[in-house]
Amino acid sequence: MIRVEVDAHHGIVVTRKQVNIHMNVKNIWQSTVGKKVVMAVSGIFLMLFLIGHLAGNLTMLAPDEGSTFNMYAHKLESMGVFLYVIEAGLLAVFLFHVIAAFQVYMSKKRAAAGGYAVTASKGGPSKLTVASRSMIVTGIILLIFIPLHIWMFKFNAGQEFTYTEIEGEKVKDLYLVVVESFKNPWVAFGYTAVMLMLGLHLRHGFWSALQSLGAMSPRWTPVIYATGFVFAALLAVGFLLLPVYFFFFGEVPAAGAGGEM
Ligand code: HEM
Repeated sequence: MIRVEVDAHHGIVVTRKQVNIHMNVKNIWQSTVGKKVVMAVSGIFLMLFLIGHLAGNLTMLAPDEGSTFNMYAHKLESMGVFLYVIEAGLLAVFLFHVIAAFQVYMSKKRAAAGGYAVTASKGGPSKLTVASRSMIVTGIILLIFIPLHIWMFKFNAGQEFTYTEIEGEKVKDLYLVVVESFKNPWVAFGYTAVMLMLGLHLRHGFWSALQSLGAMSPRWTPVIYATGFVFAALLAVGFLLLPVYFFFFGEVPAAGAGGEM
């Protein structure tokens, strides 16, 4: 039932429903279960971003010296303000995910210190610790990787971009930045290692998210585990294909030969 209260002094109308919604959002964030739901929903959004990002990146493998990829990146950039809105949304989702994850991890640690882990884990205390520990480790690696990655590729590590012409348009040669970067063995194999960490993070994250959202049941658990494994493996292999391929077979396009890098 919705009760409407009118404050005659200030002229503010407060409904019981509004108060309850406010309470519920606060309660969700304050409870561990609620934070797990936030982590799960934000994690699913981040997975969707990764699918899109991988699809865009794989256009670098087209045998056209990066034209398709550069044009794709150019189209994204041409979205202007709309792209900034999407980026701000992505950053917000990412921050929710990280903050909720750290808080859940800390509360698990506190619970374990108080001897609660033994009763909290369905798969035994060691399973709980190994899974959450690997998530925090791979999560921290990704947390360090992402800003470095954006600085390196999106901002070309603070250097001027080289431009190329595609279909009469002046386009940033982002392909050149990526190929040149992956010619460096440290970068190529550093990326490969991080992509394997990403695979582990997604493998656990996938079923953990579905579990938090209540999708696990004796019937569906094996299917969800298997889907999580295939999904994580496809994403990790898809991403790491690029550093490995460019390191061994990549040719720096002619436009970059005398370019500013
Ligand atoms: C080999 C793997 C990868 C390659 C070659 C790659 C390439 C790129 C490039 C070229 C950009 C700049 C795009 C632009 O300015 O339009 C970019 C941006 C970005 N990448 Fe990656 N990426 C890889 C893996 C990843 C992974 C694993 C993540 C996340 C875990 C990630 C997250 C991001 C984010 C958040 C941005 C900024 C997007 C934006 O601001 O629009 N990337 N990446």
